[in-house]
Order: sequence, then C-alpha cells, then structure tokens
Amino acid sequence: MQQNIFSISGQQALVTGAGANGGIGHAIALGLARAGVKLYLADIDQEGLNRSINESRDLGGEAEGMRCDIAEENQVQALFDWLDSTGAQLDILVNVPFAFPSRTRPHLLKYADWLKTQQVSVTGYFLCCRAAIERMLPQKRGCIINIGSNAGVSALGRGAMAYSCAKAAVHQMTRELAVEYAQDGIRVNTIAPAQTLTPGLKEHIKNKAFQEQVLPKILNGIPMRRLLKPEEMVGPTLFLASPAAAGVTGALLPVDGGNLAMNAGGGQ
Ligand SMILES: NC(=O)c1ccc[n+]([C@@H]2O[C@H](COP(=O)([O-])OP(=O)(O)OC[C@H]3O[C@@H](n4cnc5c(N)ncnc54)[C@H](O)[C@@H]3O)[C@@H](O)[C@H]2O)c1
Repeated sequence: MQQNIFSISGQQALVTGAGANGGIGHAIALGLARAGVKLYLADIDQEGLNRSINESRDLGGEAEGMRCDIAEENQVQALFDWLDSTGAQLDILVNVPFAFPSRTRPHLLKYADWLKTQQVSVTGYFLCCRAAIERMLPQKRGCIINIGSNAGVSALGRGAMAYSCAKAAVHQMTRELAVEYAQDGIRVNTIAPAQTLTPGLKEHIKNKAFQEQVLPKILNGIPMRRLLKPEEMVGPTLFLASPAAAGVTGALLPVDGGNLAMNAGGGQ
C-alpha cells in the first residue's frame, strides 16, 4: 500500500497561541487534533487554553497544555521543562502569538508599545524556536512553522509599523533557522496570512470608520475580494508538517487570497 505522504497522524506538536478564541492558533490546534497529532498547547490566556484542550479531546485527540507568556524567557523554559517531564517528543512546533498594542503613526509610537510588539513576535518566537531546536537536534527530525504576515513583506501604511517590522523579523528568523539546520533534519517555514476574520479583526470591523475607510482598502488588496478564514491556515500547516513537504524549508507560504501576488499588503 502506498504511504499517505500527507499523513502526520501519531506525531506530536506544540502550538503556542493555541487558545480557543476563534483565531488562527485555535483553528490550527483543532486541525492538528483532527489529523491525529498529539497536542501540547500553550497560551497566555488560561481559559482559552483550557477550552482548546477540551475541544481537541472532544475531537478524539490527545491534548495537554500549559499557560505561558512566550515573551518571558523563564516561562518558555518552564514550558519546555514541562514538555520534557511528560516525555514529549517534539515533531512539530507552530508559533502563532502576536502583540499589536497600538495603531499609530510611527512618530507617535510609544517605546513601550514598540518593545511589547517585538517581545512577543520576535523574542517569543526566538525563545520557542531555540528550545524546540535543542530538542529536535538529537532526534535529527523536526518541523517548525512560524506565523508571519503579508505585513512583514509589503508596507501597510496605516499605523502598523511595529507589527510589520516584527513580522518581517519572523520571516527572516525562519530563513536563518532553515539554513542553519537544513542538514539536521529540521525544516522551518513561515505561513503568511493576509487579513483573516479573527475575533480581533471582527472587533475592528464593528468600528464604523474602520468599516468604511480601512475595510474597502483591505478587500481591494485581496484579489479574492474577501477576508481569509482562520480554518484556511490549517491545510497549509498540515502540508508543511507532512512528509509531502520533505523538501520544503525556508519558505514563506502566503495564504492571502492573492494579496502578495499583487504586492498590495496595505490594499489600494
Ligand atoms: N488576523 C489577521 O488578520 C492576521 C493577518 C496576518 C497575520 N496574522 C497572524 O496570525 C497570528 C494569529 O493571529 P490571530 O488574529 O488569530 O490572533 P489571536 O489574537 O486571535 O490569537 C493569538 C493567540 O495568542 C495568544 N497570545 C497572545 N500573546 C501571547 C503571549 N505573549 N504568549 C502566549 N500566547 C499569547 C492569545 O491569547 C491568542 O490566543 C498572529 O501571528 C498574527 O500576526 C493575523
């Protein structure tokens, strides 16, 4: 019988930012559970984390979790110590969290907001990648998927500079790690969504000015003329984690309805 090259059943994954809030990490966690992956989930939000664990188990998956702020070195250390204590064998790491404390023109951006944005997306991803790679090296196998953004490729031009810079750093971290560990059986890739209908974006859309001024720009920049869905990040994640992507490392996979093909991060 031919092996199913898309199967990742039986593998084990850590997903950071996996809390059940209707966002991308939530969708990816449930998608991995459905694919038969044993889950270790982490999130700063304990309640959301508990719900994701329960929902994954309801799908028949094995899931455990630990609260963790990935921006804090000691908390990431504690997360991976806990993973070691469970005997986890880390095949897959997916990093999802981000921070976007304020939308403002760059000359008005507060130092604290700049720092917070970088601490979660850049430092947090680095800390999780570093700890995962330490564990993947001896097993000579592993797959890391970082969630980037179209904003890290093309300027949005609407008060998102700190976020865009952080996401560009995530893309470059992915490439550096991919090249550094290509001969160690560790693959590192980025998924770059365009604007996705998550709870955060739904909140923005409630705002009339956003709805009238920003949303049309966003949609104009997406050739499919619609927002992405969190569930649409699942298939690309499963693919990148699977043997079907054995030769794929250092890639940036846009899941963006054609946005980057138009080079239109901010919309027109
Ligand atoms: N939503 C979009 O339009 C969009 C577009 C492009 C890229 N992205 C990227 O997709 C990813 C997910 O976005 P989303 O909108 O689904 O986000 P979300 O806010 O819905 O989910 C992120 C999760 O991360 C958790 N989290 C936040 N800070 C954390 C920290 N310090 N440590 C651990 N967990 C933390 C949150 O509690 C939440 O559960 C982000 O990396 C974002 O940059 C989103």
